[in-house]
Amino acid sequence: MPSRVLTNADLEKIVDTSDEWITTRTGIKERHLAEKGEATSDLAIKAARKALEDARVNPEDLDLIIVATITPDMPFPAVATIVQNTLGARKAVCFDISAACAGFVYALSTARQFISCGTYKNALVIGAETLSSVTDWQDRSTCILFGDGAGAAVLAQVKSGGILSSYLGCDGSYLDLLNLPAGGSRMPATHETVENRMHYIKMQGNELFKIAVRRMAGAAEIVLNQAKLQLCDVKLIIPHQANIRIIMAVAKKIGLTEDRIYMNIAKYGNMSSASTVTAMVEAVKEGRVKKGDVILLDAFGAGLVWGACLIEWSY
Ligand code: ACO
Repeated sequence: MPSRVLTNADLEKIVDTSDEWITTRTGIKERHLAEKGEATSDLAIKAARKALEDARVNPEDLDLIIVATITPDMPFPAVATIVQNTLGARKAVCFDISAACAGFVYALSTARQFISCGTYKNALVIGAETLSSVTDWQDRSTCILFGDGAGAAVLAQVKSGGILSSYLGCDGSYLDLLNLPAGGSRMPATHETVENRMHYIKMQGNELFKIAVRRMAGAAEIVLNQAKLQLCDVKLIIPHQANIRIIMAVAKKIGLTEDRIYMNIAKYGNMSSASTVTAMVEAVKEGRVKKGDVILLDAFGAGLVWGACLIEWSY
């Protein structure tokens, strides 16, 4: 995470909101923000270095780098190519995935295909965002939600366990509920787009809320069925951290108690692609995931896209 912290009390000075509203409606207390000039690749590279060190894999041995992000340093080239160059991972094939808050689950599922069919040996999968760069700090309905951060994982073949099943879903008919209108080919940047604040996230939160609960609950059930496992076999569910109320509603729908759900939303807010992976890393570091445990990643975001991965931790 970048070191700068923005608390709910700080936000009270920026927009018409309160710590009480943000805490009860979202579960968020504070979030980390990148410094001016600090880009997504800077956060991605820091996370990548830690993951490589932890996995004892040299950058030169990476075959594949995927960065999940909706806030790339620039429209092109891919953030993954900047990561490759800085790390010196010269033989790695690199691309980005744009799947908003489900980005890490999409990237992990993609890397799994390359690893499991033997095309590549070592893959680096990163979720990294600087959402503060596309947040409208005058819009209280969105600016209280987002934070910046990055997390990374190294994937390699395992003899047993690993990713047991994964499922990805998409419904492109909900474009209007969550998007960033300007800066692409539909609405290139002009003075007008800047004046009209069109380069920021636009979201209809309450509509998304209901769909998120339904889709995340459905994705969890699908990956369990695919792996022929039951909820009682799962040690910990690591959901996308968009809103504590969404997480609790998903838990209620699938019949899960709070002690088996990992939540760090209070400290970081919603970091889109970076949320699920950083939560997974923290859960492991805190000893809540051990070798042989089955964990379930479950995410939902703009697109709309959603997905889940069932993993038997094998490291
Ligand atoms: N402070 C105080 N009041 C506020 C604030 C705020 N920061 N924001 C909104 N309000 C007010 C509204 O104006 C409204 O007032 P009104 O009743 O007088 O009109 C009232 O609070 C309720 O607003 P809602 O938008 O209905 O509040 P809701 O309970 O739905 O919470 C939230 C909003 C937190 C955004 C919630 O809907 C949510 O989490 N949605 C899902 C978001 C999500 O999952 N997005 C996908 C991932 S993000 C990605 O992919 C980039």
